[in-house]
Amino acid sequence: MSSHKADLQYMNIINKYINNEEFQKTKNIEHHGVTRFEHSLKVSYYSYKIAKILMLDYKETAIGGLLHDFFISSNDRTSKEKIESVFTHPKIALKTAKSEFDLTVKEQDIIRSHMFPINISVPKYMESWIVSSVDKIVAIEELSLKFKFKVRYAYNLLLLFIIGLR
Ligand SMILES: [Fe+2]
Ligand SMILES: [Fe+2]
Repeated sequence: MSSHKADLQYMNIINKYINNEEFQKTKNIEHHGVTRFEHSLKVSYYSYKIAKILMLDYKETAIGGLLHDFFISSNDRTSKEKIESVFTHPKIALKTAKSEFDLTVKEQDIIRSHMFPINISVPKYMESWIVSSVDKIVAIEELSLKFKFKVRYAYNLLLLFIIGLR
């Protein structure tokens, strides 16, 4: 995804956030087979574009979308920790985001409710619904790419094993 860089209005909105030292750490965290930084940027930009078309608050949508998964975690988490995180990370992301930035009520709602309906926090604004929906679509796309890669990796291993047997 590079089209966002040419969108100067979008870049002006998110500049301060992506250059934040703590947020920069998300560049080193694996998330659905990409980095958490890449995932957040994609969710933010697509949500921003939709909010603009619908004449909603695109600035808050871009910011809320960018910070929706703003939590710092290890790349060595166990499966149990990953499952727990599905339910707990919106709260942690909100806490992290609030400790780094002043957020509007709508931006906070976007972060808090983005995992609905897995999480019981119901989105209160259209902008929150947009980010929550875009997040799911982007996550499915990223996870399917990750899964395909794993299938190919497993296939290559199997091939090497078969060749090795000959
Ligand atoms: Fe999330
Ligand atoms: Fe996400």
